Amino acid sequence: MTDKTPYRERSATRRLVYGGLGAVIFFGIGSLIYDFGLFSWMTGTRTVLSESEQHLKTATQARRQLEEERTARRDNPDAPAPAQPTGEAGYFVPPGDEELPDGPFGESVERGREIFRNTGTNAGEFVGNDLSCANCHLDTGKRENSAPMWAAAIQYPAFRGKNQMVNTMEDRVNGCFTYSMNAQDSEHGDAPPPGHQVYKDLQSYFYWLADGAALNEDLPGRGYPSVEETDQGYDWQRGQQVFTDNCAACHGIDGQGQQDLNGRTIFPPLWGPGSYNWGAGMHRINTAAGFIQANMPLGKPNSLTDQEAWDVAAYINSFPRPADPRQTDKMDVSTADERFHEGSINYYGDTLHGVLLGEGITQERWERFLRTAPFHEPGVD
Ligand code: HEC
Ligand code: HEC
Repeated sequence: MTDKTPYRERSATRRLVYGGLGAVIFFGIGSLIYDFGLFSWMTGTRTVLSESEQHLKTATQARRQLEEERTARRDNPDAPAPAQPTGEAGYFVPPGDEELPDGPFGESVERGREIFRNTGTNAGEFVGNDLSCANCHLDTGKRENSAPMWAAAIQYPAFRGKNQMVNTMEDRVNGCFTYSMNAQDSEHGDAPPPGHQVYKDLQSYFYWLADGAALNEDLPGRGYPSVEETDQGYDWQRGQQVFTDNCAACHGIDGQGQQDLNGRTIFPPLWGPGSYNWGAGMHRINTAAGFIQANMPLGKPNSLTDQEAWDVAAYINSFPRPADPRQTDKMDVSTADERFHEGSINYYGDTLHGVLLGEGITQERWERFLRTAPFHEPGVD
């Protein structure tokens, strides 16, 4: 420093200017820190709880605003149409339980929610595995980027390439029972028949979740995000390490998940007889990679790299699971492969771990597979 002038000799104006500038800078930095949540990060008070509380507050505000705008329009037809309730992260905000209507419709919504949450308990005769709808559509179908039902409800009827016809929501849900819930191995042996109460209740729930959303709008957060292809492609062998490090603690090293003493699923199985079948969307490695990166490990969304998401999705889909129900008795795997699996990214029809993938699971086959199963720490053959 060359300025040796004593402080007290500086002019009063200069001091005032420096002081003012300092205050402005100080304030600026302070508000930046505050705005970006750096304050709580610096002081270590940024917890999961306070984030979700914050989210709850603004979600409630969004719903309240919708209600106010609706009231205004009832009183005055010239008032602007109510805007979609949107939360601070830019996603649609579905109603909370306190908005459940009384009466038969509200009761149907509640039944639908419980079917969605605990499918084996509340629609058990149509469920042929250990899964519930909410295992793949998190937060009981409310979580963005987890194929939320508020985004789906406003998109049907729609044409679907998978079955080459216009699908109503009932048709779409029928597909979920058939494939994701493996209805072929259920007590009823098939998805609920057309017009069944299960469809009505689920549709009531979805319709109610979409309250305030505009019909046919492609809402942000719909479906699962797609993960960009990587230079290295996907590889189940690399995925085994990712699985051991990030997934096995909950889903088990053998991928069979965990059940409580009453046989209720706590952590769902990822392959084997209790999981989704070879016709389900999740058997596609790209779809699974999108679901996993946005939702798994549970509580740590978006923590896996693109490469890790692809590899671990490949790993969980490299094991036997129930057969594709479209493969009838007389059809072999290679025909079914050509007919139903061409152009999609999967291991269907490949032989991995000594098993032809797609041939389905009998008790005997599964036991034989388990005896030789390669579930071990990576690197040990
Ligand atoms: C094994 C995981 C899994 C289970 C269990 C599951 N689903 Fe799905 N669901 C998916 C996948 C994968 C998709 C396709 C998402 C995409 O294309 O991004 C999907 C899509 C949907 C859609 C269409 C979403 C949209 O935006 O068009 C609906 C509706 C749906 N599921 C309802 C259900 C219901 C009801 C159940 C229970 C009876 C269920 N799902 C069980 C994986 C699952
Ligand atoms: C902290 C425990 C936990 C960890 C760790 C975890 N999961 Fe999950 N996973 C769950 C739970 C619980 C569900 C069901 C979600 C629900 O019902 O809300 C689930 C659901 C799933 C599903 C859909 C349902 C099914 O059975 O197919 C897949 C696929 C999945 N997890 C894959 C993974 C992968 C891959 C990893 C590692 C990258 C992982 N999970 C890590 C707890 C966990």
